[in-house]
Amino acid sequence: MADLTIAVAKGRLQNEALALLARAGAEVSAALASRRLALDDESGRYRFIFVKPTDVPVYVEHGIADCGIVGRDVLLESSTDLLQPLTLNIARCRIVVAARHGASLRDLGMLRVATKYPRITAAHFGAGGRPVEIIELSGSVELAPVLGLADCIVDLVETGATLRENGLEEIEVIGESTARLVVNRASYQLKAAAVAALIAALVRAGITDGE
Ligand code: PRP
Repeated sequence: MADLTIAVAKGRLQNEALALLARAGAEVSAALASRRLALDDESGRYRFIFVKPTDVPVYVEHGIADCGIVGRDVLLESSTDLLQPLTLNIARCRIVVAARHGASLRDLGMLRVATKYPRITAAHFGAGGRPVEIIELSGSVELAPVLGLADCIVDLVETGATLRENGLEEIEVIGESTARLVVNRASYQLKAAAVAALIAALVRAGITDGE
């Protein structure tokens, strides 16, 4: 049985996370070559499971996975209780407010904001005292202002290509997001040596220290 089970978010950060884990000594070629959603690395130290980003905190909180690699954006939306010992220098992007080119949001009363991030959105506009109607979507959020479903969006921007190609522009940066290593509280105690070895290996592999 592997020492640690690590839940990796599928999608935008998966390949970067696997490359980082490879630099940290995990054998990830099987994971890169197959579509299996759970597999052991050849060193026998790690079992990887690949799940939707929003499910990573759930698997880790319930102890099905000891650790997880997932974006800060997802953690800000999650109400799970996890340890976050490291900020990983991968999957760097910005969380922004964006709207159609030239659109003025100033004269609108109640702002309609489409997003996959209702908590981040509510906190941001709540802090500014601006009343908003949050329209929760699960993807392709950039379409909402184009089609008139919303006045603006709160979403991730990495290269900016999706905004540009859909006629939107950044209005305000809410924050930055990079991937985080998260750890189950019990695993942190009961598997202290294995968790410490993983953290040390990730540090050596070139990550920046966490909070
Ligand atoms: C994310 C994000 C933007 C896009 C930004 O979507 O929600 O749509 O990537 O990347 P860019 O600035 O490099 O163009 P994702 O690919 O995760 O899919 P989704 O729209 O289905 O959420």
